[in-house]
Amino acid sequence: MTNILEYQPLKAIYLILFVLILLLIKLPLWTLNYLPRSRRPRTAWTLGRSLIVRTLQELWTLKVDVRGQPAPVVEVSDSELTDAKFTWVAPLPDKLLCGEVRRVAEITGAEPARIAGYWLLKQGAPWTGPRAKPGEKTVLHMHGGGFRIGTANPSDVTANFTRGILKHSHSLDRTFAIDYRLTSSAPNPVANPFPTALLDTIAGYRYLVQEAGFEPQNITVAGDSAGGNLAIGLVRYLIENPIPTLPPPGHILAVSPWLDLSMSRHGPTSSATLSATTDIFQLKPGELFEEYAVVSLLGPMDFEVARTNRYLSPVSLHVKPEEGLFQGFPETYVVAGAPERLMDDSTALIEMMRADGVKVIADISPDAVHDFVVFTWHEPERTDTLKRVSMWIDMM
Ligand SMILES: *[C@@H]1O[C@H](CO)[C@@H](O)[C@H](O)[C@H]1NC(C)=O
Ligand SMILES: *[C@@H]1O[C@H](CO)[C@@H](O)[C@H](O)[C@H]1NC(C)=O
Repeated sequence: MTNILEYQPLKAIYLILFVLILLLIKLPLWTLNYLPRSRRPRTAWTLGRSLIVRTLQELWTLKVDVRGQPAPVVEVSDSELTDAKFTWVAPLPDKLLCGEVRRVAEITGAEPARIAGYWLLKQGAPWTGPRAKPGEKTVLHMHGGGFRIGTANPSDVTANFTRGILKHSHSLDRTFAIDYRLTSSAPNPVANPFPTALLDTIAGYRYLVQEAGFEPQNITVAGDSAGGNLAIGLVRYLIENPIPTLPPPGHILAVSPWLDLSMSRHGPTSSATLSATTDIFQLKPGELFEEYAVVSLLGPMDFEVARTNRYLSPVSLHVKPEEGLFQGFPETYVVAGAPERLMDDSTALIEMMRADGVKVIADISPDAVHDFVVFTWHEPERTDTLKRVSMWIDMM
């Protein structure tokens, strides 16, 4: 169906009206409404936070197409980066593509490709080239954005997650983020179905171990939101397909991970329902199963795959077998906000991992929204959490 809002000047008029109504009518009304603490989405929230969250929810109702589509990969020069270094990451070699991931890649046509990576440097840390110093620790970061938006470029809001860790950690000089390929589908070009982003994640890890020379034990694999899904998927891949030259990483750090693309727990008492007013998204009813990202990721496969595939939805109620899915996983630190819509995914991860004997640190902030560690307006929770995470990294 053609959306008339895709055409100018209608799109521009719509956007101007949207902003004017927001600023001149809605924000003043919300301000009055939220003045008494008891009327705020969370009574612990400040007026400012209540208004920011409400505004972000409103942005989800924009009727223009804000679905992402992959941008071409271009080299970023040093002069454009203040605290980072750009590097190319070689495609995953064919001989390292195996098991279930290879099987699905053959169905969807996903293929390895060269991607961009960014070293993010601690303030004042000199750049001495990619090679690891003896015993050096680092973090591999997959950014959030629902598999369809966002970038590893340090200008992206998600870089403030790892930037915060670098600020508070005593043992890290730099972290590494990869621009895994984003997925899209109609009305945009159909691109990069599952497991494309996972192939890039494996390639990023391979770069750290085999090219930069980091010891797997010294690498923490980290992801926020969709990036958390990739972090868990990477470790699953390395455990299921033992590659002598590419052992699993020492630690996992999962922030508000999105681990059930089928939303199998969705119902009247699920976090997606109960936290509808206390998180930054406002999904409309019925939107869950048609989520643009899920449709794009599935490509030619049907929805059943999102319910049952242990890589796409490791905590789905329909993945079999239910036990042993996390056996052999390294120590995992889970960060989430209690009133976030995806809280059920974190709760399930923590329970399933513990049942499988994995050491899990659950760091749940009682009043924080989805992926709050990237938002510099989400204080003091953001800094408090990043300090604890940094201490955990420094102690390992
Ligand atoms: C890095 O890993 C090696 C081998 O596992 C270990 O001996 C070393 O202590 C680690 N470095 C740090 C800083 O933890
Ligand atoms: C990241 O944090 C810095 C302050 O620490 C802030 O100036 C900057 O705007 C933040 N970036 C984004 C994209 O939010």
